[in-house]
Amino acid sequence: MAELMREGPVTRIRLPHGEGWAWLVTRHEDVRMVTNDPRFSRKAVVGRDITRLAPHFIPLKDSVAFQDPPDHTRIRRAVAPAFTARGVERLRDRARETLDGLVGDVLRDGPPADFTERLLAPFPLAVICELMGVPAADRDDVHRWTALILASEDRESSERAKQEMYGYFTGLMRERSAGDGEDVTGLLGGAVAAGEVPEAAAAGFAVLLQIGGEAVTKNCGNMLYILLTHPGHLARLRSEPALRPSAIDELLRYIPHRNAVGLSRIALEDVTVGGVRIRAGEPVHVSYVAANRDPDVFPEPDRIDLTRRPNPHVAFGHGPHYCVGALLARMETELLVSAFLDRFPRLRFAVPVTELRWQRGALIRGPEALPVTW
Ligand code: HEM
Repeated sequence: MAELMREGPVTRIRLPHGEGWAWLVTRHEDVRMVTNDPRFSRKAVVGRDITRLAPHFIPLKDSVAFQDPPDHTRIRRAVAPAFTARGVERLRDRARETLDGLVGDVLRDGPPADFTERLLAPFPLAVICELMGVPAADRDDVHRWTALILASEDRESSERAKQEMYGYFTGLMRERSAGDGEDVTGLLGGAVAAGEVPEAAAAGFAVLLQIGGEAVTKNCGNMLYILLTHPGHLARLRSEPALRPSAIDELLRYIPHRNAVGLSRIALEDVTVGGVRIRAGEPVHVSYVAANRDPDVFPEPDRIDLTRRPNPHVAFGHGPHYCVGALLARMETELLVSAFLDRFPRLRFAVPVTELRWQRGALIRGPEALPVTW
């Protein structure tokens, strides 16, 4: 990516699936422009077999990811109260209790433990299920569907899981269509019943929120990996807790969250980006991962600087499709990182670092397991 940025900065690319070529935009300034310019449409992607990493698309065609304003704005508004700073702060105490319970179990059982299995997977799952209104008894199903949808290699099982999850959330929304519940399926069910949002779009959104909710597992797994392989940073964050918020931003910037790129956008008219003329109808991918290492914006981009300021990273995207769950992800990450630092004073890997495996064939990057001891 860095090479493409130096050579490009706007390049022609082909990915393993789909047809033809697309433009790839890597520089911070260009990525921000493309993602915030209504001349680039997500809706126009639907029905086109654009070159991409995975055999299938993760979001359903009716989902928020494939909509443009004003439909996009309307559906995002329906769930906004749950994801604002205040909405997320309301969850913090309960989330802390959940995490305390999980940490307590790990401490009781003693070392070693796989933190992916014991903390990084179950904690975000519990939080998003509670927020969505998924009953505890259904959590295993929902978790299994998410894993199948995110595995990039098997199109059939992924599509089947997506349809099952879609049907599941449609049912849940209908049950809660009175709109008096506080959970997200209640908010969406209420918006559908009020005729503000089509049901298919609401169910597609619920699926994406649920899947997105588990993104913290991998992202924060990368964070723990980085901290354990950079003992200086780990020690500093232990002794200077005030640094943690800016450190989390820096780690979000530094971590390549995705393999390759996400969904493309289509130019609705001819547009010049980074000096390159993109013609109407041509697909464009942006790389937030590359933009986060743009040397013009982040001096020494490959160095982790826990006090980096300013830090205008785009780890959560930019423009109207900016991550719905950014504040929630940050809150969960703060709790998890603080738990690692404060509750496990001698935390270290239980195996040689070379034995750690990164998950293959998945869209989001992260370690398969994190066996640690303390
Ligand atoms: C979109 C990153 C956690 C739900 C996105 C985008 C990025 C991103 C880069 C894409 C922006 C685009 O399409 O241009 C992350 C990272 C996370 C995280 C790094 C964790 C550290 C979450 C969580 C949720 C979530 C916890 C759910 C509560 C979504 C949804 C979208 C999205 C629904 C689609 C928004 C739209 O198209 O309008 N996220 N995310 N994400 N994220 Fe996240």
